[in-house]
Amino acid sequence: MSDLESVFCRTALWRSFARRFVVPRVLSDAEGHEVLEIGCGSGAMAAEVLRARPGITRYVATDVDPAMVELARRQLAGFTDRAEAQVVDASGLPFADGTFDTVCSWLMLHHTITWERVLADAVRVLRPGGRLVGYDLPDSRRSRLIHRLTRSTVRMISAEDLVAELTRLGLRDVAVKPLGIAGAYRFTATR
Ligand SMILES: C[S@@+](CC[C@H](N)C(=O)[O-])C[C@H]1O[C@@H](n2cnc3c(N)ncnc32)[C@H](O)[C@@H]1O
Repeated sequence: MSDLESVFCRTALWRSFARRFVVPRVLSDAEGHEVLEIGCGSGAMAAEVLRARPGITRYVATDVDPAMVELARRQLAGFTDRAEAQVVDASGLPFADGTFDTVCSWLMLHHTITWERVLADAVRVLRPGGRLVGYDLPDSRRSRLIHRLTRSTVRMISAEDLVAELTRLGLRDVAVKPLGIAGAYRFTATR
């Protein structure tokens, strides 16, 4: 992720945007008791999901960037009985097979470059019947231009490629639908 994006993801403006516009659109997907978030950034989505979903008993927010995890810990300070933040690279999750009911990926897959590997590991740590949920930006001219301008290293994922990969991984009920913000899509699938 570029420095510019990294700084923006830590701002109150981004947290407010996530709370007001993104969370209402994806909240119905974030169910289950034990939840893993990959690429949690500063914890903007994690804190809101925990606030809205008291049924979540364990929320593990993870990010590869230690500075982000430190911020996420602060965001999650009011949920220490239900949530924790850890430095974790999503391409090699340190969790046993079938650990979580839900794995969330909020706007992070295109930053991972090796997103097929990340998805495969996310599926591995899901329990049978568990849900993979998230949202991301499409592989459009606009999103490629934005990332060129912000000098970000990304590998954009088209909705078609995402459906094909989730299906190839053996998931069922694969759905990729418009998020309703800036051409982004949300996705859900069941192990
Ligand atoms: C655009 S931010 C989104 C953060 C957060 N999900 C949100 O909605 O506010 C993308 C995040 O993905 C993280 N990231 C990128 N590659 C990663 C990887 N391989 N493993 C874990 N996190 C990663 C970045 O450090 C960054 O915090």
